[in-house]
Order: sequence, then structure tokens, then C-alpha cells
Amino acid sequence: MTDKINELLRRVEEFKPKAAAEIEEFRIRILGKKGELNALMEEFKTVAPELKRELGQQLNSLKQAATERVNALRDQMQDATANGPGIEDMTRPGSAEQLGSRHPISLVKNQIVEVFARLGYTVADGPEIEDDWHVFSALNFPPEHPARDMQDTFFIEKDPDILLRTHTSSIQVRTMERQKPPIRVICPGRVFRNEAISYRAHCIFHQIEGLYIDEGVSFADMKQSLLYFAKEIFGEQASIRMRPSYFPFTEPSAEVDVSCNLCGGKGCPVCKGTGWLEIMGCGMVDPNVLRANNIDPEKYSGFAFGMGIERIAMLKYGVKDLRLYFENDVRFLHQFDTAL
Ligand code: DAH
Repeated sequence: MTDKINELLRRVEEFKPKAAAEIEEFRIRILGKKGELNALMEEFKTVAPELKRELGQQLNSLKQAATERVNALRDQMQDATANGPGIEDMTRPGSAEQLGSRHPISLVKNQIVEVFARLGYTVADGPEIEDDWHVFSALNFPPEHPARDMQDTFFIEKDPDILLRTHTSSIQVRTMERQKPPIRVICPGRVFRNEAISYRAHCIFHQIEGLYIDEGVSFADMKQSLLYFAKEIFGEQASIRMRPSYFPFTEPSAEVDVSCNLCGGKGCPVCKGTGWLEIMGCGMVDPNVLRANNIDPEKYSGFAFGMGIERIAMLKYGVKDLRLYFENDVRFLHQFDTAL
């Protein structure tokens, strides 16, 4: 009986149909009610009890192999029919593939990098896991500054502190270690803060940092560069204003607003009636920061700025909920690739 089973198995494996009808014929002949497999099953009833175990297993494998072969052949045949007259027809147009799209955060990041590349900035990078020196101390944060607090910062280890960077300003420090002035870098990256997730805050987001250090760099240079940036990103009609602010690493410091591109500055719910939208922080690099990084503040001066990419993208496209950027719903993501 083993011989019969093996012989049938060989025929199943070697079966090569030329048309769909042949598969059905084959199925009925082998697996049908009055088929060869059932005939073997009948014969199986009469074999000696001590042979039953092994022969039963062989029969089961045969049944499984035959069923799988028939199904596979059917699928193959169906694919071939769906593809038309067959693979010989090389003139048929290919089937269309659905294309993916770039994430809006990547698109906006690339756009911002391009704008500053035109002003001579190169891209600099740094690690996401940082130490206290690069995120706080070298940037002139006093030891008791609240940004070092457990509520803001994700600490990995204490004493010495190892943490997830809370801003891309750490890349300023990394760059000053690597490079002497003139320095002109733009630093995109992910940052981490211990914040509750809501429509306007997330514990992971993206920033872009800029740093320009050379002899005789002035506040006017900074203002003109940031105005150029605002016009390139938000349109020629965009204007900016600066409000005095405070950051430990810049002096003087400012907050930059761009004219609201929805109401053109007249006042609307998005700009809360003010006509202005806050887009970044900036300032002249504090002499303490230059000194901490072995750059002579008597000889060199510079400016720095930092902005949230999610925020720029929200203002540019009117996205009202930050969480959409992280949910990866393709219906949301697909809206952006043609917009740029
Ligand atoms: N690091 C600041 C933040 O995370 C942003 C910033 C402000 C960066 C002013 C700068 C700057 O370089 O000059 O809020």
C-alpha cells in the first residue's frame, strides 16, 4: 500500500496542467468522492492494526499534499488569467503600484534646510542621548535652572547625568567642539520632553537649530536672515517682528513672530486676534557660551535660533492637532506630498 501512496504522491507533484479545466478534472480524479484517495482510504480499513499508524500518517500527508497542490495551481492559473493572455505578451502595460509619500515633518524639515543652505549653512548632527554638559552646562544654564527638572527632562542616569536631549541646541555645542569659526550650521533633530500628550504638546517632537559665528556678526544680520526664511516658507507677503525674551544661551534674546498667513495680519481665531504667530526663539550667542566652547568672544560674535518643525508645519498647513503627525494615518499623510 505504501507503494501505491508514493506513486500517487509522485503524480500529484508532477502534475502540470495547461488549462484551469484540467486542474478541476485532476481534483475530482484524486480527491473526489469516488477518487483515488478515497479508494486508498477504503483499502486502509482492511490493513492489519499494527500497520495502521504509519499508513494513516502517509495517507494524511498525501491528502494534504494533493489539496495544497490543487490550490496552488488554481492560484497560479488565476494570476495568469488576471494578467491577461500570459507572460509572453511583453507589450502589456505594467500594473500600477501605489506610491507612498514623504511625511509632512520630513517635507517641512527639508524645505527649511534648503532655505538655509541657500544662505551657506551646512547640516550638522548630534546624538539624541546626551550628557548634562552638551544640553545644559555648556549653554550657560545655571545649576538650579527649572529646565533641568525631572518634570521636563527624561533622565537615563543620574550623577553623572545622562539624558534625552530636550532641545537641538546641544548640537551647537557639538559643532563648536568640532569646528572653529566661521561656523554656519543648521541642525535638525528629534527632541524629548516629559510632557503630557495633547493636541498641542508631545513628548517627542522635532526642532531645527541654527548657529552662525564669525567676526562682526550682528543682530541686523540675524533679523535679515530670519525675514528671508519667513518669506521663503510662508510666502513673499510674510513679515516678522521680534519681542524681547530670555534664553540662558543668548543675550539679547528674542521671540520671533510671523504675520498670520490666514488673515494677513488683520486678526483671526488662529492668531487669536493678534495678527501674529510665534515661530521661534533666537538671540546673539551669549559670551559665556562662546567661552565655554573655547571661542574668543572679543574676536567672534554670532547668533542662534531654534524652532519646532511640527509648529511650522501646523502653521503652514493649518493642522490643528499635533498628534496627527504621529498616528501615521495614510489619509492624513497623503495630503502633503503634492502640496510642496
Ligand atoms: N532651545 C530653545 C527651545 O528649545 C529654542 C531656542 C531659542 C534655540 C533661542 C536657540 C535660541 O538657538 O537662540 O525652546
